[in-house]
Amino acid sequence: MFGRAGPLTVEVGFGKDEFLLELAAVRPDLDFLAIDYSVPRAMSYLRKIERRRLTNVRVLVEHAMLAVSLCLADASVREFFVLFSDPWPKARHAAHRLVAPWFAREAARALVPGGKVTLATDHEPYRDGILAVLEGEPRFRNVLGPGGSGPRPDGYPATIFERRWLGKGKVVWYMQFVREGGS
Ligand SMILES: C[S@@+](CC[C@H](N)C(=O)[O-])C[C@H]1O[C@@H](n2cnc3c(N)ncnc32)[C@H](O)[C@@H]1O
Repeated sequence: MFGRAGPLTVEVGFGKDEFLLELAAVRPDLDFLAIDYSVPRAMSYLRKIERRRLTNVRVLVEHAMLAVSLCLADASVREFFVLFSDPWPKARHAAHRLVAPWFAREAARALVPGGKVTLATDHEPYRDGILAVLEGEPRFRNVLGPGGSGPRPDGYPATIFERRWLGKGKVVWYMQFVREGGS
């Protein structure tokens, strides 16, 4: 797909944000895959890629479950980002949450050993849900220790949703998990 081989950086749910494009612009040596199931957002994202003249980004317009489970080879990803994915706060909608046990299992399969998943949310119950799901997958270790979350790690730009929530005086939490060795 990229005309070269190398571990991918993958963002799930890019929305209207340019987070991954900013990373891609400063790392032309790496390949980036952006996943979102919204066709209008993907169309506008493709225009941004063209405007920035980026040749190392591909867009996959697909439900995350299909994209992550079926389109990514084992040990092919160096980093996943899932930033401000919809929290689906009502209990009867919780099944729509992107960060669920299937995601932890498939992300652990697709990551290289030592690879990372970086996630963020402004919604406290979803934060706790994310921690429970990722810490329930034995191949992941929480970088900040069990139950740990914190501010955005250095070196990453703030997304549109982060700026929106901080502008409203809300707190945002980032979490990072490392894929330990072993299958
Ligand atoms: C709340 S927006 C966050 C956008 C961006 N990451 C940010 O922080 O500004 C969530 C995005 O994830 C996408 N999304 C939600 N569930 C998805 C799923 N199951 N598969 C693919 N994309 C999904 C939505 O279309 C939307 O664009």
